[in-house]
Amino acid sequence: MSLAGSTTVARPPRSAAAEETRTEHKPADERCQHKTPLGTKTVEGAESIRKNSGTDQNDDENEDRPTDGDSGRPVGQTAINNDAAFDFAYTGVDQVTDMREQSGTQAMAYAQEHMPILHQLMGQVASRHDLSGTSIAVCLILEPKTAVLLRELAQTGARVGVCCESGAVDQRVADQLKTEGILVQADASWNEEQARQGALDLLDQLQPNLIIDDGASFARLASRERPDLAARLVGVAEETTSGVRAFEAMEAAGALTYPVIAVNDSQMKTGFDNAHGTGESCVTTMQEILGSHCFAGTRLTVIGYGPVGEGFAKRVRALGAQVTVCDSDPRAALKAVFDGFPARNINQALPQADMAISATGVYHTIALEHMRAMRPGALLAVIGGIANEIALDQLPDFHPVNGRKIRSISVPDGPELTLLAEGDGVNYTAGGGNPIEIMDLSFAVQAAALAYLLDQRGELTPGVHRLPESTDRHIASLALAARGYQASQPLADHSHSWQVTRFDHEH
Ligand SMILES: NC(=O)c1ccc[n+]([C@@H]2O[C@H](COP(=O)([O-])OP(=O)(O)OC[C@H]3O[C@@H](n4cnc5c(N)ncnc54)[C@H](O)[C@@H]3O)[C@@H](O)[C@H]2O)c1
Repeated sequence: MSLAGSTTVARPPRSAAAEETRTEHKPADERCQHKTPLGTKTVEGAESIRKNSGTDQNDDENEDRPTDGDSGRPVGQTAINNDAAFDFAYTGVDQVTDMREQSGTQAMAYAQEHMPILHQLMGQVASRHDLSGTSIAVCLILEPKTAVLLRELAQTGARVGVCCESGAVDQRVADQLKTEGILVQADASWNEEQARQGALDLLDQLQPNLIIDDGASFARLASRERPDLAARLVGVAEETTSGVRAFEAMEAAGALTYPVIAVNDSQMKTGFDNAHGTGESCVTTMQEILGSHCFAGTRLTVIGYGPVGEGFAKRVRALGAQVTVCDSDPRAALKAVFDGFPARNINQALPQADMAISATGVYHTIALEHMRAMRPGALLAVIGGIANEIALDQLPDFHPVNGRKIRSISVPDGPELTLLAEGDGVNYTAGGGNPIEIMDLSFAVQAAALAYLLDQRGELTPGVHRLPESTDRHIASLALAARGYQASQPLADHSHSWQVTRFDHEH
């Protein structure tokens, strides 16, 4: 599964009163307006930083210059997004709160405040489509960011329900959503059979037209257990790499009876969620569990060098790890080499490793014989996220416990090893998942996928489809604007003509 959890250490929304208290003794010139990626805030002490950096002199020089009426910026001063460049807010350590310790409503309110792109996209969907007769089932990790998506969907007038495996349920969120009219078939205390039954109950109670899925688990269940319902689906929007692979396998086998939008394959999803958000949140979650210096000097093997593995490998290298990469695709292995990592066969790499990290999303990536060859005490973790990416199902004494972050495992005829997050995706089971701002982009693509399925209703063949590039560009433009940036606009359209070559001198 790819998804989310709340940003691990998140700052609560600041009330106007709190802001007032924080700044009351400072004269206005000691504060500097900076903008976070998503809003303008105030930073104290910025004046002294500017003095030390020598920018005062420039300020004095600028005082006499005529200013641009709109921005107040001296005419002639560079206009390279000055506002955005100066609009950063450091709210101070005293403001940092772990949202996992807040109530469900507080955590959801915080997430909602930081997901403006999803909000805009859903507004656009609702203005184009009447969703009052539509039923949407969502099968995603149930945490505050997913709750924002569910709320946004429900606000369009659609009937909305959610299911989720128990290990990925934030109970305070599940409880809160039930009070808001969302059909919740998920509970942190359920066993596997109860979670499966909950998913079937959601299909029966909601009779969804649309599904948002993670890992293709829910839609595949529908195909197997409720084939008539599956055949009537308008379509499915799939969040993850592993889910897209599963749907492609279904399509190849002639078993796919509905259109699937590969949300994962949109650049605004994979290029940010997989490449940035997952690497970042897996690193910070591991630091929370193991200590902030856990990577320094560590011999670490990353298995799988797709966007997830690459994002993680580059981050831990920066934190001092000696990273080796294993990828079964020679192209990915070569890319790793060009990025500066030795690429090795897993059989060679794992016996040397202090930490082995699976980033493939492929069953039994770390097999029993691999574990047998590892050093005693070496650590195993998954940052991809399908069941048994590490072959834990072959360990007779392994019984997972929801929420356990670290444990020892005994490998038959092998060493004792250390396992994080019971072999599930470390960031969303032992940490807060991908950052909110990243999930804002991923869920905006989900919203666009639903709109596309509705726009193309009856036109799309059963099979895996991708969103047009224009969707990515639209979402990117909104996300840039929310941060105070923009793409460049050429003065004229100089697109290439195939008829013009270097031999055409008249051109
Ligand atoms: N934890 C999260 O929050 C999160 C977020 C996004 C994606 N994911 C998941 O992470 C996984 C990886 O995502 P991605 O986008 O990088 O996928 P990808 O398919 O682009 O990359 C996976 C790489 O692993 C390699 N690989 C596959 N099996 C292998 C094996 N047995 N040994 C060595 N290499 C092998 C493939 O050749 C490929 O290069 C997927 O399952 C995806 O769903 C997790």
